[in-house]
Amino acid sequence: MNTSGTVIGIVGSPNHDGRTNTLISAALDGAASTGRAVEKIQLADHVVDACKDCLPWVCKDNLKCTYPDEAFEFLSQKLLDCGALILGTPVYWWDTSGMIKYLILKMFRIYARTAPLKGMPAFGIGIAGGTGNGLISGLRPVYHFFQVMHMRAIEPVPVTRFNFKKATERAKELGEQIAEMAKQRTPFNDLEERLLWYDALPYLGMSRMEERRLLAGHTTQALPKNADPGIACGLARADVLSAAGRKLEAMKAITQVYDSGLEIFEKK
Ligand SMILES: Cc1cc2nc3c(=O)[nH]c(=O)nc-3n(C[C@H](O)[C@H](O)[C@H](O)COP(=O)(O)O)c2cc1C
Repeated sequence: MNTSGTVIGIVGSPNHDGRTNTLISAALDGAASTGRAVEKIQLADHVVDACKDCLPWVCKDNLKCTYPDEAFEFLSQKLLDCGALILGTPVYWWDTSGMIKYLILKMFRIYARTAPLKGMPAFGIGIAGGTGNGLISGLRPVYHFFQVMHMRAIEPVPVTRFNFKKATERAKELGEQIAEMAKQRTPFNDLEERLLWYDALPYLGMSRMEERRLLAGHTTQALPKNADPGIACGLARADVLSAAGRKLEAMKAITQVYDSGLEIFEKK
């Protein structure tokens, strides 16, 4: 088991220089600050083919895709050899990028049974750089990957345009944290422990309403100091409505806060 390898950061966006790249770079800076070797991989340079779900299912035994796929060979070897993983995805339609999903699905098909990444520290970064919708749902497939592969993932970094600076700082802190964790892998003792670990991670279990409230909260935190304090108070009103079981009204109150916050943000 490799416990001393490089921390790799995968930029799961077709844009080499976009926001995902900025966030992954910050996380790798954090990891590098501990003295650990880091490597950034641009997924756009290594696009994995779709798994063909071919039968007989030999790849789970010979641990090799039956079809030639240089990108997968390159990436899977990097994953097998590394000490920790940071996986960054742009959020597309409230979901993880297709390039990442193709990588994940092939990893599942070949390695889910043997789980060679067990105990590997990891975290995911999801940037919902448009409306901000999907800031959590876009991260879920990434954490599903970590969970199925028995990896020891720590909290995700959900990012929007509204919390970008703070999230970049958080990515750096977590990069430092997983670099430290990479010194000693700690695999889960059993399935139950693993499932509970993942249940305890923040953000991922949020309902759609909670996710939308988080997003609206991002917009209020980005408000200028002279903004109408009534905007942020709308979130407290939404909470009261929600607690009273008036869910639809609560959701609408959240949307109102989001719309007001967005309008001011875009004028800045
Ligand atoms: C096909 C597509 C779908 C998108 N869907 C969403 C979305 O659901 N929510 C959101 O906030 N942004 C969405 N965006 C915007 C991207 O998240 C945003 O451009 C992000 O910065 C992309 O990351 P990058 O800068 O690393 O390329 C979408 C962009 C594209 C191209």
